[in-house]
Amino acid sequence: MADPADLRARLVGELEELPGPWRQAFADVPRHAFIPALVWRQRRDVDGNDMYPLHRDEEPGEWLEVAYANRAVDTQVDDGNPAEDGTGHEVTSSASQPSVVADMLIGLQAEPGMTVLEVGTGTGYNAALLAHRLGQDNVVTVEIDPQVADHARDALAATGFGKVTVITGDGAQGYPANAPYDRVLVTAAVTTIPYAWISQTVPGGRVVVPMAGTYQPPGILTLDVGHDGTASGRFGGAAAFMALRAQRVPRPRGRPIDTDTAAVSTTDVHPYRVAGDRDAATAIGMRVCGIHKHYAPGSDSTGTQWLLDPDTGSWAAIALTPDPPYEVRQGGTRRLWDEVEAAYRWWIDTGKPTVDAWRVTVTPAGQCNEVDIPAHLFDSPAQNDQPGVHRWVRSSTGT
Ligand SMILES: C[S@@+](CC[C@H](N)C(=O)[O-])C[C@H]1O[C@@H](n2cnc3c(N)ncnc32)[C@H](O)[C@@H]1O
Repeated sequence: MADPADLRARLVGELEELPGPWRQAFADVPRHAFIPALVWRQRRDVDGNDMYPLHRDEEPGEWLEVAYANRAVDTQVDDGNPAEDGTGHEVTSSASQPSVVADMLIGLQAEPGMTVLEVGTGTGYNAALLAHRLGQDNVVTVEIDPQVADHARDALAATGFGKVTVITGDGAQGYPANAPYDRVLVTAAVTTIPYAWISQTVPGGRVVVPMAGTYQPPGILTLDVGHDGTASGRFGGAAAFMALRAQRVPRPRGRPIDTDTAAVSTTDVHPYRVAGDRDAATAIGMRVCGIHKHYAPGSDSTGTQWLLDPDTGSWAAIALTPDPPYEVRQGGTRRLWDEVEAAYRWWIDTGKPTVDAWRVTVTPAGQCNEVDIPAHLFDSPAQNDQPGVHRWVRSSTGT
């Protein structure tokens, strides 16, 4: 069996852009010591999305490879309650992909001696990396799942990071007892940013948080906290995270049954051109609410792109054929494809704003997602508030 130190050295070698001090942390902290004996993975030889257990005692070599691959390791399914047949469905805790961890740590711009709040302890690995660089007394990490928190506490103690403060609780509230923090690092995805993270960060501090919606693809948001109690920032790279527990949206299960009552039309826009373009899908996700995507392959090279809104029961099914036009069937009170296609056309008409044209601002009153659009392309001159740039704004109240 491979030596963990060799596998760790290989992993560090794969993290190419890592600056020296973080490189040292990745080289010194043994990731496998944070990975539970039981982890979960999909099986290539079995159809579907079910997760299957991999146990360290049964397949130690494979388990160790998994622990040191530059990939996320799924460490809990279904909030710790897998199905009776031993399979899992929803991943509810994981050790994030090391290169994503590295990118977020770099984006955090944390220096030795700064205090940091991590939301989403998971295995405790990220907390250990932070403690290695910033000092153990400076790291507070909050995990909502008691079993997961206990495991992280044990792993941190066993690896010499026992002074890290691990709190079992709802990280959406931050952890006011030790606030303010110089940095807040969130490792669970949100659509709405809890104001507690901003109010518990020092002016001039920074919050790094993954954002994603049911249509909006994931992106890492970096918010700089101002002296006026607000924070504002833009998206960096893409990385998928499980949702913060209070912001979980259950995936719709099953298909609509009233497909006979569908309104039938056609479109020349292939749904993948829409959903598969990160810039387009971000804009659409910002403009349409609560639309889930689901692809169902057909028996040949065709398939169906489903759009579903569990709240209203509305649905759309777009038949994927080699060439347009594509047949669209829609039912329920919303016309989901029409909404998506209209948002796609808005994105084109506004000059195809890129992901980084979006700015998210969080204030005590709520959150505002806005995008810069060249003035001559904007459809409502009344909203012009800056020469040369118009804004499309969506606001919501915070939690
Ligand atoms: C991707 S994992 C964290 C990875 C972790 N930082 C690591 O290094 O292994 C996300 C974690 O966030 C936790 N979580 C979800 N909602 C939470 C909440 N409201 N407060 C605290 N933790 C939460 C989940 O239980 C899960 O363990």
